[in-house]
Amino acid sequence: MKMNNSMKNNLEKTSPFLRACRRQAVPHTPIWLMRQAGRYMPEYRAIRAKYGMLEVMRTPELAAEVTLQPIEAFSMDAAIIFSDILPPLIGMGLDLEFEKGVGPVIHNPISSTADIEKLSTPTAAENMQPTLDAISLVAAELTPRGIPLIGFCGAPFTLASYAIEGGGSKTYAKTKALMYSEPAAWDQLMRKLVRVQVDYLLKQVEAGASALQVFDSWAGLALGLQDYVRYVQPYNTLLFREVARSSAPTINFSTGTAVYLHEVAACGGDVIGVDWRLPLDMAWEMIGFDRAVQGNLDPVALLTPWPELKSRVDDVLERANGRLGHIFNLGHGIFPNVPVDNVRRLVEYVHEKTSNN
Ligand code: CP3
Repeated sequence: MKMNNSMKNNLEKTSPFLRACRRQAVPHTPIWLMRQAGRYMPEYRAIRAKYGMLEVMRTPELAAEVTLQPIEAFSMDAAIIFSDILPPLIGMGLDLEFEKGVGPVIHNPISSTADIEKLSTPTAAENMQPTLDAISLVAAELTPRGIPLIGFCGAPFTLASYAIEGGGSKTYAKTKALMYSEPAAWDQLMRKLVRVQVDYLLKQVEAGASALQVFDSWAGLALGLQDYVRYVQPYNTLLFREVARSSAPTINFSTGTAVYLHEVAACGGDVIGVDWRLPLDMAWEMIGFDRAVQGNLDPVALLTPWPELKSRVDDVLERANGRLGHIFNLGHGIFPNVPVDNVRRLVEYVHEKTSNN
């Protein structure tokens, strides 16, 4: 079906997910799961058996198909576009590859201020057009069905950590050493990353995304309070301020930030994503009950038998306590070995237990 403006307006009014982002009343607590399109689904594995990760992301029809897989299989309240946080780095000059069994690898990591100087800042149209096209395809499919699509990007610290370490890290030592010893170069790197991500986020909304999530997965695992405030907060604040030019609600997600969630919230975002390290009510209190929150089931709960899983879901819902502005999600991405039936049962149970009629 073709999308028109009245369908888009209707989506804004009726989607439980979009209503919860704005702390409006909802017919049930909305739920979606980070990494909901992924290896735990046989349909996803079938596509990946034929195509590489970057190939799926760069082929709009394939990216759209994978995005829709969890929507067809479960009654999720939102879809998230299938891509990754790292591909925007390619157009900036970084040689990214997803290596089987390893994860993302950057073959020419940043190691000097000259490398930062050299980084390009391409527009999203130059850099990420296949993803923007995939967003248009998915939105055309989902808007008439009343389901919103989430666009996303990586936050500058998390992207910088991959660009400098060349992949995942346990210590973030290279990233932090550069940050501490070359503050002017760090500023330049963060500003370049923000510029590229802001354009990308705004273009995702133009292409049909109804909400935006910013993933700052690693800042909290790497940085203490003072370093977060000094080296991350100014740039995340800039990013959220720039993106507020669009009307799409924003989700500010991080992990390991329990010690300074109030500083995370101060950066901006209509919704604050909460990992599994604090009980939801304690986290929400630190954030402020005047903001919406998303979370925070421990992803490992999906690997346990139903009675254990159910009691952990009940705990999250009890701590949310029916307040306006709760989006149910995991505290971090779903694991590849989660049984599909547990996902189905989780989604159905959250809807059933929170249903107003
Ligand atoms: O949530 C979704 O369904 C949308 C797609 C999505 C992916 N990655 C797909 C993916 C999103 C939103 C991401 C974000 C992402 N990517 C983050 C932030 C979120 C988080 O988990 O903290 C980070 C840190 C990355 C970087 C990344 N990409 C890693 C570390 C890995 C390897 C780990 C792994 O699970 O294999 C990836 C690869 C990746 N991104 C996969 C998927 C489905 C697995 C690729 C495969 O099919 O083999």
